[in-house]
Amino acid sequence: MTARNFPESFVWGSATAAYQIEGAATEDGRGRSIWDTYSHTPGRTRNGDTGDVAADHYHRWPQDLDHLAELGLGAYRFSISWPRVQPGGSGRFHSAGLDFYSRLVDGLLERGIRPVATMYHWDLPQELEDAGGWPARETALRFAQYAAGIVGALGDRVHTWTTLNEPWCSAYLGYGSGVHAPGRTEPAAALAAVHHLNLAHGLAGRVVRELVPSAELSVTLNLHVVRGASDSAADCDAVRRIDALANRAFLGPMLDGAYPADLLADTAAVTDWSFVRQDDEKLIAVPLDVLGVNYYSSTLVRAWDGHSARSDADGHGASAHSPWVGAEDVDFLPQPGPYTAMGWNIDPPAFTELLLRLRREYPGQPLMITENGAAFDDVVSADGRVHDDRRIDYLRRHIGAVAEARAQGADVRGYFVWSLLDNFEWGYGYDRRFGIIRVDYDTQERTWKDSAHWYRHLVASGQLDD
Ligand code: NOJ
Repeated sequence: MTARNFPESFVWGSATAAYQIEGAATEDGRGRSIWDTYSHTPGRTRNGDTGDVAADHYHRWPQDLDHLAELGLGAYRFSISWPRVQPGGSGRFHSAGLDFYSRLVDGLLERGIRPVATMYHWDLPQELEDAGGWPARETALRFAQYAAGIVGALGDRVHTWTTLNEPWCSAYLGYGSGVHAPGRTEPAAALAAVHHLNLAHGLAGRVVRELVPSAELSVTLNLHVVRGASDSAADCDAVRRIDALANRAFLGPMLDGAYPADLLADTAAVTDWSFVRQDDEKLIAVPLDVLGVNYYSSTLVRAWDGHSARSDADGHGASAHSPWVGAEDVDFLPQPGPYTAMGWNIDPPAFTELLLRLRREYPGQPLMITENGAAFDDVVSADGRVHDDRRIDYLRRHIGAVAEARAQGADVRGYFVWSLLDNFEWGYGYDRRFGIIRVDYDTQERTWKDSAHWYRHLVASGQLDD
């Protein structure tokens, strides 16, 4: 028998998020979120696309879970829509919303699939944004109450509770560059959002620990692999600064119990960080059973001299405002191709590098790949199939990078492909397809792409092909 690249215990899954697939935006008493508002604001998303219908998963979830089972997956990562279960973000919980997730969780368990629930995948109740949003401390306190409601309702049926998905995006894209909801461009508010998201994580994590000690606790970060254009002191410093904003702003308080001093110093002209109260950092540092890592591509920076033309090729959408608050003198350089349809470079070795960095800096911290995948311009062939060879190649090389990191000692416990289904890709609307299963948005028909067949084979064998 050929050796398996991955042991039987390795968890294979796929991931989605509520606003990207559910639709049913006004059904059963669901409240509005910042993404409803943002996507309904002209000019914010491609083609004015919204998540009103999306992949209609709210009605089609049993069939979608059947696809998971047919793929042979051991786990499914989904998110709970806060405005569906607590419409205004505070006060009473809405039983129709909770019931939906309760049925979903039971449906997973019936199929032998481990539920991995994300509490927050970007759909903040609009009322909380109206009251200040993530830059306001109160939002973190509300989040803890929301966490208590959903953990109380779903409890230990959920195997893994993930507090936040990619708080980097919520803070810097939502309040810095404004290319995500709520679309604000206020540098100081972006850093306050960083802190209150971290605080929300800590408070909600403590709720999980208290209510369901048997559940696993995690958070999902989109950690950046930042490289410098040269070894010059100025370029090395640019790398350090972006690493602080992108990675250590979250890893620091969550895993080390403190914000890095250089982050506070670098951003002193933007904010004095007085919103960090005594003991906040202790609250944030709740021990994690597993750290979720999302990885898609790498980042190349150089120090900007203030004169030469800038590239600003950071791949996070065109905005006059940078998400990299306080680092205006850092330039983001284009990278060598090939690229995915997002314009993101394909760099599997950087993935291995990232996982080995985590092993080095946080030894003993189990890791889970909670997202990895690629958008390509899929074509339905005359035979009715989607021959998405480039996606297969992307997945093969990145899963290979995980195998390589594991071989070198990284404690990676599982891998979730992004995504199960084509879905609403935020500012890009339905123009970008990440699914291993195609969604025909006219008929809502699901079709397995070649990558889904390939993934199923990998999951069954635990063995990567060449
Ligand atoms: C990260 C996000 O968590 C997810 O919502 C998004 O669709 C993918 N990356 C692809 O951009």
